[in-house]
Amino acid sequence: MDKLIATGGGPLQGRIRVSGAKNAALPLMISSLLTEETLRISNIPHLHDITTTMELLGQLGVKLQVDEKLAIEADASEVDSVTAPYDLVKTMRASILVLGPLTSRFGRAEVSLPGGCAIGSRPVNLHIKGLEAMGAEIRIENGYIIADTGGKRLRGARIFMDLISVTGTENIMMAATLADGVTTIENAAREPEVVDLADCLNAMGAKISGAGGDEIVIEGVERLHGADHRVIPDRIEAGTFLVAAAISGGKIRINDVVPRHIESVLDKLRETGCVIEEGDNWIELTAPVGRLRSVNIRTAPYPAFPTDMQAQFVLLNSVADGTATVVETVFENRYMHVHELQRMGAQIELDGNTAVIRGVRQLHAAPVMATDLRASACLVLAGLVARGETIIDRIYHIDRGYDCIEEKLAQLGASIRRVPGHYLERRSA
Ligand code: EPU
Repeated sequence: MDKLIATGGGPLQGRIRVSGAKNAALPLMISSLLTEETLRISNIPHLHDITTTMELLGQLGVKLQVDEKLAIEADASEVDSVTAPYDLVKTMRASILVLGPLTSRFGRAEVSLPGGCAIGSRPVNLHIKGLEAMGAEIRIENGYIIADTGGKRLRGARIFMDLISVTGTENIMMAATLADGVTTIENAAREPEVVDLADCLNAMGAKISGAGGDEIVIEGVERLHGADHRVIPDRIEAGTFLVAAAISGGKIRINDVVPRHIESVLDKLRETGCVIEEGDNWIELTAPVGRLRSVNIRTAPYPAFPTDMQAQFVLLNSVADGTATVVETVFENRYMHVHELQRMGAQIELDGNTAVIRGVRQLHAAPVMATDLRASACLVLAGLVARGETIIDRIYHIDRGYDCIEEKLAQLGASIRRVPGHYLERRSA
């Protein structure tokens, strides 16, 4: 298994372009199941989760073509399976997103229950409840969710989401596009990725209004057609690079980003003392001379501070001046990075969903282990500001969601390289 070796060094400087958003690209690719015409999606990031989604769609019978510019053409005219198997769903929970489209277009879906997850129990009850309200019969059998409409079209319904769920909103929204009648999703997720999916579905002939607000109305249509859609930039990748520049005392410009998608993150970075300038599609960050000021964080659904940036800000606070409190309200167990940061000298006390962090002047290198995607990103950045050489193990997590992270960081002057696992074993023998 590959590892990353990061050496603490000077400020990160330069410019980079962020890739297409993983969490937008996955549902967009899956929405191809809703039409027998070709859906073309460009600005697809180069990630493991994309490969897994291609594998999943391929198993269902979707024909896929990828061009050299990483645009995908998906043709779901000959879908011959409605089963998402455990092997794929367990490696990528977003596979649950096929449940709505398959049930809506084919009247049946068999999707493995995802099982446990490193960041919390992550149930899918809201996805199920939504489809049931639209007339699907759902039972759990041998670890699979089996949805059946008895050969009928799903019907529009008023659906209240007890909790704000991103993929739950996306699943129901996709299913509702082909339902008979009007569906209203109340307490819907407002994330930019939900809006991007609604934009693509509307380009395919769907009638969706209100995406980006907490009530989405979908008027069902008989069929959807092909479309050409470009994935929005990855706001979390952008935020991660901004934190890298901030904690290293650097200056970077990020291109091809939508600043308003990360206003809550930019506000917090300003509070730390960074100077931030933004244009329509770029952000420039200049770190202060001297240490950053620590900032309190409370994660919550969009437009509040994203849980996917929590780990990076725990790290930022670990090296900032002062004591900060970070409260994670979205996932119950998303603090695995804390124990690894403590091994690098961070002063963090955990109490339930609250981390109290007293900033230290310097972290020191240690061998650390990645546990989930955003925790891995936090550890890579920690390695770039720690004294010595940090070896980060289990980096397959990072390859799921960050497109060429070490190349992009190296472009900004970071000392980071990828080595095969056996290389380090030989070196230490
Ligand atoms: N929840 C339920 N029941 C449900 C669905 C969700 O109780 O049926 C709970 C979850 O357990 C969680 C909360 O609701 O406590 C919110 O979860 P949500 O459903 O919004 O998360 P998700 O849709 O599974 C997406 C992203 C995550 C991101 C979260 C929150 C994708 C593919 N994944 O997950 O991204 O953290 O929204 O913003 O869009 C990542 O990229 O690293 C990542 C984990």
